Amino acid sequence: MRTRLVRTWRGVRHLAPTAATGFASLLLLPVLLLTVAVALVAPGRRLAVAPALRAFADRERVRIDVPVPVADDTSLRDPVLRRDLRWYAVHAVLGTFAGLVGFILPAAALNALLVPAYWWLVPADDPVTSPYPVTSWALAATMPLVAVGYTALAMLVVPPLARWYRSLTGRLLAVPADVRLAERVAELTASRAAALEAHGAELRRIERDLHDGTQNKLVAVAMHLGIVERALRRDPAGALPMVLRAQDATSDALAGLRDVVRSIYPPVLAERGLDGAVAGLIARCPVPCALTTIGPRRAPAAVESAAYFVVAEALTNIAKHSGATQASVVLTRADTLTIEVHDNGHGGADENLGTGLSGIARRVAAFDGSTTVTSPPGGPTLLRVELPCGT
Ligand SMILES: Nc1ncnc2c1ncn2[C@@H]1O[C@H](COP(=O)(O)OP(=O)(O)OP(=O)(O)O)[C@@H](O)[C@H]1O
Ligand SMILES: [Mg+2]
Repeated sequence: MRTRLVRTWRGVRHLAPTAATGFASLLLLPVLLLTVAVALVAPGRRLAVAPALRAFADRERVRIDVPVPVADDTSLRDPVLRRDLRWYAVHAVLGTFAGLVGFILPAAALNALLVPAYWWLVPADDPVTSPYPVTSWALAATMPLVAVGYTALAMLVVPPLARWYRSLTGRLLAVPADVRLAERVAELTASRAAALEAHGAELRRIERDLHDGTQNKLVAVAMHLGIVERALRRDPAGALPMVLRAQDATSDALAGLRDVVRSIYPPVLAERGLDGAVAGLIARCPVPCALTTIGPRRAPAAVESAAYFVVAEALTNIAKHSGATQASVVLTRADTLTIEVHDNGHGGADENLGTGLSGIARRVAAFDGSTTVTSPPGGPTLLRVELPCGT
């Protein structure tokens, strides 16, 4: 009995808002039909009210625990939008009906319970009729029985009605697997584009480093050797200082070349693995920092390289901007490599203010990973990056 009452109450709580939104939908249905008619002849079949419709449908999805699709197409050709439209029509008609039934029965029970308190206030020629005219105290005294009847009816009708309506909306609003697959393909296409973009940017950077740095230094070496050659012809004994200068220039060019190579794939990663390489970064960080690594597996070289650059940029930011006295790096390796860099500084990190954080986000997106920066004013700051390891 008690569980039945609880179930009925839950059903009422589900159906009462359904009555409200269903009825509002019913009132707006002609407007929607009109905009659909306009969209049918509009270029690209764009539905002007698509964002509002989507928000409305998503609100219902959240209410009944159906996954919210990540779609933003406003064309009538979009399968998710078509599903939303179909749900709207059903919700406007059946939702209003189911909602009203779920609402009216308990309301009638409550009213019957209250009739004995107020029937005598109502004019005698227009008595309360619920469900028969109440014109005497004797009749009023029977009303609690009527209330019990309504309650019993509600207990019988409301729970299955709420269940049925919930499963109907669930079926209408659930986005089928092929549409989800299409979404996933769109996501992967975007991450592939990001990978190509990151790759292109990296190539341009290496080209610039080689061109502006190494090439210039090698030109200087050639120039010095030219001077040496001339000096050797003129006065071989006095050529030694020039030879030494040429040697210096060569060492300088070599050091520059080594830097470029290091920036492509830090050799420390090959030598010491990600843990060792990150420990090296931490040792150079002026803010005291703790390293925790969980999980023994090594990740693919490209992933480790990206992770290394993430930690390097995060620690540089902590040293440059955070004002922190304590920081920590946690590396967790499973199917994804998770990097968490935390500092107790004053917060306020904003990727729109520089190129470092947005560079991290782009690099990580290229691996189909995710980046979140939590940095409220006053701190603390947490950078969390997830890099799928492709297994
Ligand atoms: N750990 C942090 N604590 C507080 N503020 C931060 C932190 N990290 C970044 N910020 C803020 O966010 C901004 C953006 O950081 P980002 O790394 O993108 O750029 P940057 O460090 O200023 O320049 P660069 O392009 O050289 O990295 C910084 O200018 C800084 O104001
Ligand atoms: Mg930075």
